[in-house]
Amino acid sequence: MKNVGFIGWRGMVGSVLMHRMMEEHDFDAIRPVFFSTSQPGSAAPAFGGQWGRLQDAYDVDALSALDIIITCQGGEYTNEVYPKLRKSGWQGYWIDAASSLRMRDDAIIILDPVNYAVIQQGLDKGIKTFVGGNCTVSLMLMSLGGLFANGWVEWASVATYQAASGGGARHMRELLTQMSLLHAEVAQELHNPASAILDIERKVTTATRRGKLPTDNFGVPLAGSLIPWIDKPLDNGQSREEWKGQAEINKILNTSSVIPIDGLCVRVGALRCHSQAFTLKLKKDISLPEIEQTLAMHNDWVRVIPNDRELTLRELTPAAVTGTLNTPVGRLRKLNMGPHYLSAFTVGDQLLWGAAEPLRRMLNILL
Ligand code: HSE
Repeated sequence: MKNVGFIGWRGMVGSVLMHRMMEEHDFDAIRPVFFSTSQPGSAAPAFGGQWGRLQDAYDVDALSALDIIITCQGGEYTNEVYPKLRKSGWQGYWIDAASSLRMRDDAIIILDPVNYAVIQQGLDKGIKTFVGGNCTVSLMLMSLGGLFANGWVEWASVATYQAASGGGARHMRELLTQMSLLHAEVAQELHNPASAILDIERKVTTATRRGKLPTDNFGVPLAGSLIPWIDKPLDNGQSREEWKGQAEINKILNTSSVIPIDGLCVRVGALRCHSQAFTLKLKKDISLPEIEQTLAMHNDWVRVIPNDRELTLRELTPAAVTGTLNTPVGRLRKLNMGPHYLSAFTVGDQLLWGAAEPLRRMLNILL
């Protein structure tokens, strides 16, 4: 059995990973070793049915004893520990949820339902570093993979509707706290059907603007609002989140010529599902039934939702998809611009396929 170290297993992505690994009995096939950046020596969790002590996540000797390391600890940890570990001569497999190593030539972005062949070629070449993709990128490819696999996409433009969880656990708390404080401002009026809605709105807007809502994480109120900027600005006017789209998708697919992908990334008040609205230019006029069939057959998790109002409301929303591995795609129709132009809307849980799921699947590929 392989010795597999886990770092960052207690955080939000790590917790989802542990849950999924328990569900799928992944621990039965490995000898898990749990690490801590803050409390080495404390009792380790019993996910794998084994008891023990937490090891020090900065102890290069302890890490060197492992065959595989899975980290959800974040980029700072990776930046500090990974170079030391590799420099020490460690030849094990590093599986990472953070973005730090994603674009390195000696790393592969993992999303095996989409790029199993790329992963396998990497393994054959001796690649030892495997990194989960950005959540919007992975979710987009899980939903639209069929179009890319057939080489039909000339370019794609996207507007994202990204959930609070993409920022982290504290961001989710902040959003919910903002919501509850705003509700408290107008709770009485809401109970009274005779109260005027514009008075209620005015009170909410005033409360939003007077600077009393917690905004340490988002910087501004998100409840009842949105934020059309995610991550750092780049020199070309894109946000870093927007930059990742083209860079990562082309790397995941190992394209020989770059497929242009660009758009606007927006934070909305959803909890853990990222949604995305696409305009796709196809290389040829493909009929909608053929598009739907191709999308549906690409992997076991994509669900094609017919472009019907009732079905869309029932099955193509964060509320419907959260906590599931389904990656539905709907609102499929040809746009007024012409038969080569397709619209699509996708939804996916950013903590599952967007973060934890590709990691546990990579582990299983290595076993
Ligand atoms: N960058 C993403 C977001 C998170 O902020 O929503 C995960 O890749």
